[in-house]
Amino acid sequence: MSHVSKTFDFTDADAAYRDLVRDLAALLAGERDLVANAANTAALLYDALPGLNWAGFYLYKSGELVLGPFQGKPACVRIAIGKGVCGTAAERRETVIVEDVHAFPGHIACDSASNSEIVVPLLRGTELLGVLDLDSPDHARFGAADRKGLEAVAKIFIESLQGLRPTTENAV
Ligand code: SME
Repeated sequence: MSHVSKTFDFTDADAAYRDLVRDLAALLAGERDLVANAANTAALLYDALPGLNWAGFYLYKSGELVLGPFQGKPACVRIAIGKGVCGTAAERRETVIVEDVHAFPGHIACDSASNSEIVVPLLRGTELLGVLDLDSPDHARFGAADRKGLEAVAKIFIESLQGLRPTTENAV
């Protein structure tokens, strides 16, 4: 199965994310299983995006976030809503970008190598399914193109669970 490799073009990040989202849609097409699709999404992101030390999911279960499929070092398992960057994004139901995690009050340090982070909430309508979390050892690794691109990734992932034919049209 082919997909983009570590040749992510930072000079045209929007186009690079469009390619990535297209690859993701092809990867998830025809499969609705949440764990399988979350695992493949994490693997694709970790392989395709440079400068990451962690990429994966926390899933919303019984009022808290519980570790889901990921790539990277072992991570903390449970995060309360409102706690850390993940719990903050879940509570606000909006993407949170942290340029320096050491300056973020309540940041939960899973891997001491992490310096910046982006967390995208997974929303199916108004229902919170969890969050998509990416960490980087680089300072201020994530910006507007990552927000737009990863929100499109989240949309494709959620659509795949509903058995909708993932579409990349106008996704990024
Ligand atoms: N740093 C996150 C915890 C999860 S790890 O980064 C994988 C946070 O503050 O919510």
